[in-house]
Amino acid sequence: MQSDIVFRTAKAWDSFSDKYARRMQKNTSVFYMTLLNMLHYEEAENILDAGCGAGYLHQHMMNQKKPNSHLYGFDISSQMVKRAGARMKKSLNKDKIGSLDLLTQEEVDSVNFDDEVFKKINYHLSVGNVEELNQYQNEMFDIYVCNLVYQIIDDQKKAMSEAFRVLKPGGKFGITVWGRKEKCAAVWFLKELAFETGLSPVGMKGGRFLSNPEELITLATNTGFKNIVFWLQMVPFDVISMKNIEEFFPPEIEGILAKSTQEQRHIYYQALEKMLNDYKRENKTFPFECYLLIAEKPK
Ligand SMILES: C[S@@+](CC[C@H](N)C(=O)[O-])C[C@H]1O[C@@H](n2cnc3c(N)ncnc32)[C@H](O)[C@@H]1O
Repeated sequence: MQSDIVFRTAKAWDSFSDKYARRMQKNTSVFYMTLLNMLHYEEAENILDAGCGAGYLHQHMMNQKKPNSHLYGFDISSQMVKRAGARMKKSLNKDKIGSLDLLTQEEVDSVNFDDEVFKKINYHLSVGNVEELNQYQNEMFDIYVCNLVYQIIDDQKKAMSEAFRVLKPGGKFGITVWGRKEKCAAVWFLKELAFETGLSPVGMKGGRFLSNPEELITLATNTGFKNIVFWLQMVPFDVISMKNIEEFFPPEIEGILAKSTQEQRHIYYQALEKMLNDYKRENKTFPFECYLLIAEKPK
C-alpha cells in the first residue's frame, strides 16, 4: 500500500513530467551518460534504470547494449514512465523524437507497459519506489543506475540495500546526487528567489545537499559495496535567457505566480534577471554540480 508521502511525491512528479521531459532531462542526462560509461553497461545482460524519469537515454542505451540484454526502468511517477514508453514507441516507428520531447498527452496516456512491442525489444517499464524493489528478484541485474534520485528520497540506506540485493555478485552500482549548494543554482534558484522576494512563505523544500560527501562513501561501504569511485562533476544548464528561465518554471512556481500581484511578479522577474545577468557579467555558466559514485558488489 502506497504511503501518503509516496503518493504526494508521485503526483508532484507527474505534474512536472511534461516540462521535465521536454526541458530539463537533456541537461541532467550528461551525468547519466558518464555513469553508464563508467559502468561499462554495454557488456551487461540486465540493466536497471532506477527512477528513470522520462527515459531520456533509453533509445541510446537500446542501441549500445548487447542485442539480447534487457533494459528495465521504473519511476515513482507513472506519467514519467509512460513518457519513457511513449518515446520508445515513437522511436520504434522511426518517428523522429528530437532533442525536445514532443509527445501528446494522448500518446503518453495510451502506453501499456505490457505492450508486445516492449517485450520484443526486452524493454521493461514499471511504476516503483527505489526504496522497495519488490518487483525484482535477488541478484537479477548486472547494472543498477540511478541518476539524481537519492537526494530526494527518505531513506537512502534502504534504497542502497535494495540495490545491493537486486545486483548480481560482481554487479555494478552507479548513482548521482546533488553537489554543493552554491554550485547548484539550477535546482534552487526559482524557489529561493520566490521566498527572498516575498512571493512564497517558504524557500526550497525537499531534497538535500551533502554536508559531508564522505557520507555517501560510508553508506556504500556499509552496504557492502567494494571498489568505490567517487567524484564531483559540473554540467552547465542551458539557461542563457529569461525565456529559458521561464521554460524551467515547475507547477509550484506557476501556481505561486498565478496567485501573486503584478507588482510581486515584477519584483520576482527582476530578481531572476539580476541573477542571470550576474552570471553573464562574470562569463559564467548556470551551474549544476553533482557527486557521482560507482561501486561493485563483491563476487
Ligand atoms: C531529477 S529526476 C531524475 C530522473 C532521471 N533519473 C534523470 O536523470 O533524468 C528525479 C526522478 O525521481 C523520481 N522519484 C522520486 N522519488 C522516487 C522514489 N522514491 N522512487 C522512484 N523514483 C522516484 C521522480 O519521479 C523523478 O522522475
